[in-house]
Amino acid sequence: METLLVLGGSGLLGGKVAALGSESFKVVATHRGAKPKIPGVDFVELSKEHVEEGMALVRKTKPSAVIDTAAMHNVDRCEEERDLAWQVNAGSTGSLARVAIDIGARYVFVSTDFVFDGRKGHYREQDVPRPVNYYGETKLAGEHATLAASGDHLVARPSVIYGWDDTRLNFATWVLSSAREGKPINVVTDWIGSPTFADSLAAGILQLLKVPDGGVYHLAGADGMSRYDFAVRLVNAFGLDPAMVKPVRSADLHMKAPRPADSSLSSAKAKRHRIAVLPADEGIEAMKEQRSLDSFVPPARFKS
Ligand SMILES: NC(=O)c1ccc[n+]([C@@H]2O[C@H](COP(=O)([O-])OP(=O)(O)OC[C@H]3O[C@@H](n4cnc5c(N)ncnc54)[C@H](OP(=O)(O)O)[C@@H]3O)[C@@H](O)[C@H]2O)c1
Repeated sequence: METLLVLGGSGLLGGKVAALGSESFKVVATHRGAKPKIPGVDFVELSKEHVEEGMALVRKTKPSAVIDTAAMHNVDRCEEERDLAWQVNAGSTGSLARVAIDIGARYVFVSTDFVFDGRKGHYREQDVPRPVNYYGETKLAGEHATLAASGDHLVARPSVIYGWDDTRLNFATWVLSSAREGKPINVVTDWIGSPTFADSLAAGILQLLKVPDGGVYHLAGADGMSRYDFAVRLVNAFGLDPAMVKPVRSADLHMKAPRPADSSLSSAKAKRHRIAVLPADEGIEAMKEQRSLDSFVPPARFKS
């Protein structure tokens, strides 16, 4: 059986890739904080900035592919802790992607829609990235390092990833748990993205491994929408009170780092390879089928 190495297996996306991957691979996955338990997955501790340790792990596990979901992606924190953000998101990536080549493994770097400036929206792979914040700069550098190591390596760009995760909140679980508790939340009307259901993104990434051509692939939900519109769809679908979601403009939130206004993605290229992420309404329905909101205990943590 071939081995799959998942960096960031303790995260929302990495956990889904590890669980799904374990159906056809021997999976080794990394964590930094508490060691997760996923049946059929061996967890190893790794901080990506300790690049020598990461390189040794790739050599030792000899995977046929490395899926790199590990990131520092709290956008405002990246703006303040620039050296660390660079090391985690960009610096170590090239070294790991080069070691992957030495052992004949394909490297998939999970990037972001935040590589774009957000002036246009519905971005395709050939559109020129122009990040407006440091997080986007580090992820773009990670993309370049991956593809410089080998033209066979892959970059997958999702946007606003959501799904069930008991270890940290993501946009959807934050909205749903706040509305359930009757806590009003402010949600911006002027940031547009393409909500990406983590489970179908994980499946898409595993399918991507079979695509012969390396390069950049957008893997996001089909519809572009504001965070506010997505939040209202979520609360309506789960039978909660939409009045809990208060529309605000991003300028009212006084965020440290600027955000792209419309970084929605076109995933037409992936679709030509028969890879598609569920549209938002179907992703929300899939969440409802997976479990009830009553069984969800909101974790204290948000994203890394
Ligand atoms: N979430 C979004 O809306 C979104 C949108 C577009 C792109 N992305 C990209 O998609 C990927 C996955 O995102 P996600 O939502 O699954 O993130 P997540 O749930 O916050 O998980 C992040 C993962 O990265 C690990 N990590 C953080 N800092 C690390 C470090 N210094 N060294 C090694 N591992 C580290 C975390 O480990 P511990 O938990 O064990 O600390 C965790 O496993 C990221 O590359 C992100 O940039 C995310």
